[in-house]
Amino acid sequence: MSETLRIDRADIAEAELLADLNLQLMVDEEHPYPLERPIVVARMRRWIAGEYQVLLFRRGARVAGYAVWRLEDRGAYLRHFFICRDQRREGWGRAAMRLLVRDVFPKDQPLQLEASTWNTRALDFWHALGFKDIAIALELKVGESLK
Ligand SMILES: CC(C)(COP(=O)(O)OP(=O)(O)OC[C@H]1O[C@@H](n2cnc3c(N)ncnc32)[C@H](O)[C@@H]1OP(=O)(O)O)[C@@H](O)C(=O)NCCC(=O)NCCS
Repeated sequence: MSETLRIDRADIAEAELLADLNLQLMVDEEHPYPLERPIVVARMRRWIAGEYQVLLFRRGARVAGYAVWRLEDRGAYLRHFFICRDQRREGWGRAAMRLLVRDVFPKDQPLQLEASTWNTRALDFWHALGFKDIAIALELKVGESLK
């Protein structure tokens, strides 16, 4: 790719922009419990202020996506990863992950993330990059009784 991707730590002033990307992410992954925008904005402010590392991807002045991660006991945990809808299937997701692995994530820690079982696009992406399935998350829905 001739054009390059830049990755920067997000500033608190970018919380609204990131919240809008987060809302798109929830739609795209068919999140079962989507949040309202004010909650997402407040959460993004908290995350940028220090709960997570929030990173914005740009190609020149154009926003290309974002990632949210932090170091946990189990290793590096990638909580959000998103490439803008109009820039998908052009290799930017792979390019962003290559940069993150090269420059950001600790080299002595495993890198973990969760993907919904129905998010086949994401599963295809992570598998194509070499990630392996290691767990299945289980849930008892609100109001459902034990059998
Ligand atoms: C998943 C996502 C990050 C992929 O980003 P992307 O920039 O489109 O991915 P790339 O173009 O770098 O794709 C790299 C490889 O992943 C695989 N892949 C990516 N998208 C795919 C799709 N829709 N269907 C099948 N395979 C896919 C392919 O093997 C692809 O290589 P190829 O294009 O040479 O065939 C992007 O679709 C996205 O942001 N989705 C919504 C948010 C989301 O679900 N995030 C992950 C939550 S766990």
